[in-house]
Amino acid sequence: MNKIIFRIVETEAELQQCFAIRHSVFVEEQKIFFKTDQDKFDKNAIHIAAIDTNTGKVVSTVRCHETEDGIWYGARLAVAKEFRKHPSLIGVKLCKIARKTVADRGAKRFLAYIQPKNVRFFERLNWRKVDKLVTHFGSPHQLMEASLFGTKKRTRNVAKGKIWTGYA
Ligand SMILES: CC(C)(COP(=O)(O)OP(=O)(O)OC[C@H]1O[C@@H](n2cnc3c(N)ncnc32)[C@H](O)[C@@H]1OP(=O)(O)O)[C@@H](O)C(=O)NCCC(=O)NCCS
Repeated sequence: MNKIIFRIVETEAELQQCFAIRHSVFVEEQKIFFKTDQDKFDKNAIHIAAIDTNTGKVVSTVRCHETEDGIWYGARLAVAKEFRKHPSLIGVKLCKIARKTVADRGAKRFLAYIQPKNVRFFERLNWRKVDKLVTHFGSPHQLMEASLFGTKKRTRNVAKGKIWTGYA
């Protein structure tokens, strides 16, 4: 039985593994980006990784970044192909941890541009549509917003070094 853990990325080596997963998904698989999906937001973003404890490798990632005071965006949610629909519900868990992470940092809103095929996935997680479909990186995307109801604002340092666990 392999165990997946989730944590905020703290080392350059883990960050590079997150970038590699994103590259395989958004550049190679989905071809949304031509050479790289990395951008100016990566530097100050919070990157969250799912790690397979059998191998110690990052298998999925998502990032959160603040664009203006209290307005946060989630982006680049990517689960490696062989880990999709894993019994640990890696994508679901990454979204929930991302929401908690930004709420703990005082987010007023948590938004994301979602591919239409994934809208239902986010609706099940209590995200709601905001406005109509827009073109984002050349393809249609739905702006969606997470419900932050029930999340408590804590200090900015909360969750540093925290490890979330999940079993398969
Ligand atoms: C979209 C993506 C992140 C989903 O990740 P995943 O790890 O496969 O998803 P999970 O295993 O956590 O959840 C999938 C299943 O869990 C179930 N599920 C969904 N929400 C749930 C919830 N809140 N609680 C329990 N189960 C849930 C559903 O059965 C879902 O299956 P379905 O999609 O067939 O309806 C993944 O497919 C991926 O990386 N795709 C390519 C990149 C991409 O499209 N990123 C998103 C850009 S907007």
